[in-house]
Amino acid sequence: MTRILSGIRPSGKLHLGNYLGAIKNWIELQDRQDIDLAVFMIADYHGITTPFDPKKYSEQILETACEFLAAGLDYKKVLLIRQSQIPQHTELAWIFSSITPETFFRRLPTFTEKIKEVIEKKVGVLPEDFDINKTKYLQGYFQDIPDISLGLLAYPALMAADILIYKANLVPVGQDQLPHIYLTNEIVKRFNSKFGETFGVVKEYIAEGAKIMSLQNPKQKMSKSADEGIALNDSPSEIKEKIKKAVTDSGKEIIYEPQKKPAISNLITLYKIFSRKSLEEIKNQYEGKTYIQFKDDLAEIIIEFLKPFQKRYSEFKSDSEEVKKILEISEGIARNEAKKTLHEIKQKIGLL
Ligand code: TRP
Repeated sequence: MTRILSGIRPSGKLHLGNYLGAIKNWIELQDRQDIDLAVFMIADYHGITTPFDPKKYSEQILETACEFLAAGLDYKKVLLIRQSQIPQHTELAWIFSSITPETFFRRLPTFTEKIKEVIEKKVGVLPEDFDINKTKYLQGYFQDIPDISLGLLAYPALMAADILIYKANLVPVGQDQLPHIYLTNEIVKRFNSKFGETFGVVKEYIAEGAKIMSLQNPKQKMSKSADEGIALNDSPSEIKEKIKKAVTDSGKEIIYEPQKKPAISNLITLYKIFSRKSLEEIKNQYEGKTYIQFKDDLAEIIIEFLKPFQKRYSEFKSDSEEVKKILEISEGIARNEAKKTLHEIKQKIGLL
C-alpha cells in the first residue's frame, strides 16, 4: 500500500525550481496505479514560522492553490489541502514534540543554517569556530533574534505529523528536506516503542532530474525569496530580462560541464528540459554561437512552455470561489482520514 504526502510553503510565487523539483514529480505520481492515497498540501502553518505579511497571506495561499491546479494536479485523483484546515496535523505535532528530544531539533541543518543566515545578516561573517550548539554563542547571539521562533525550531515535528497523520509512507521531497525525513523515522521508532506498533517506515521519493540553481549564483539553489528565480507567472518580458541577466562563465563555449562551467550548465539544463533535446543536440546546435543567441532562444522556449500554465492559472485565479470549493472537498476527505489516525493515537497514549 502506497500513501503519498508532500507539501510546499505558500511563501511566494512558485518558480521553475519548485516546478521541476517538486510539482512536476507530483503530477507524474498522481497517475501511478499503485498509489492508494496522495495528499498535496499547502503548508500554510509552516509558512508562518518565518516572517510573512498577514495582509497578503490568504491571497498567497489561494494563489498557490491556483498554481497547483494550473500545473495539472487533478483534485479528482489526489487531495489538495491547506494544512491549517485540518487541525489534526497540529494536534499530532504537539504529541510528537513531546516525545522527541529537544536537541534533535536544534541539530538539524535546516535550523542551524537558518540561524547562521539570520545572525550573519546582523553581525557580518561569523568566527571560524562558531557553533550554535554551544551556549557561549547562544547567549551572545540568540538574545536579540526575533526571526528565530520556537515554531521554526519545532517545524520538523509538524512535518512529521503532516506525513504520519495519513500514515503516508512515500514522501516526495528535495534533497534539503532529507534530515526531516530521518527525524520523522526517529519519531516513528520512538512512538512505536513507547505506545505500540502504529506507524511504518517513511521513505523519501527523490526524483532524478533537475536541480535548478540560482541564475545569479549557480552554486545555490534557485530560491523563492530572492527575486532571481523565474516565477511560473512571470511575463515574457520578465523572463527575457532574467535570462539576459543570468550570470555566465568565462569563455564562450556553450557546453555542459557542471564543475567547470556551473552557470552555463544550469542554463543548458533548463534548455534541455524545456526543449526535450539531448545535450549532444544542444551542443551541436550552438557550436560557434554566442551566449546571447543561446539565452535568447532559452527565454523563448521557457515563455512558450509557460503559456498554457499561465492561461489555466488566470482562469482559476478569476474563479476563486470554485478553487475554494475544490480545496474544501479534498479537505473534508482528508479530515476524516486524519480524525481516524488521531483517535487511534489518543487511545494508545491514554488520552481517551
Ligand atoms: N518543509 C517543506 C519545505 O519547506 C514543506 C513541507 C511541510 C513538507 N510539510 C511537509 C514536505 C511534509 C513534505 C512532507 O519545502
